[in-house]
Amino acid sequence: MRRAIYPGSFDPVTNGHLDIIERGCKLFDEIIIGILVNPDKQPLFTVEERQEMLNEVVNGINKGNCTLRVDSFSGLLVKYAVAQQADVIVRGIRAISDYEYELQMALMNRRLEPGIETVFMMPAETYSYVSSRLVKEVFHLGGVITGLVPPLIEKRMKEKLNQA
Ligand code: PNS
Repeated sequence: MRRAIYPGSFDPVTNGHLDIIERGCKLFDEIIIGILVNPDKQPLFTVEERQEMLNEVVNGINKGNCTLRVDSFSGLLVKYAVAQQADVIVRGIRAISDYEYELQMALMNRRLEPGIETVFMMPAETYSYVSSRLVKEVFHLGGVITGLVPPLIEKRMKEKLNQA
């Protein structure tokens, strides 16, 4: 039984994240999508909204026999992973520029918890430039984000903008 944690901010979830989850499902029996509760950041969506949206959109992906669970956590990722009895942390790497930061985190996490392995996965090239940060920026400036996030997320972003 291989249980992995896929941690992140997911503010909001993009098609790149979903691509990684789908690929991860080929490797793991269970993936816990862990949303970081970060009091230092001013997110677009609350943790509850992100959790609800993730739950909806992962329903539509091809997960085979893999069990997906959406959860949130605060504090150290490795402590959360141990508490969840996961032995793998999954992180997506889009370009070399991601690698330096991801390597630092992976090595720090290994030092803190040697029993947990970090697995880097590459999304489809189509999503190699897609990030939640850029999606939000483009959206707020009136650009088209169709195809970069699931339709439900685009809808929720429009609703958010109208509420503001
Ligand atoms: O989607 P993000 O913002 O790139 O995800 C970053 C995340 C959540 C993986 C990272 O910030 C994290 O693990 N935070 C938890 C706190 C922690 O464990 N810090 C030490 C990391 S070496």
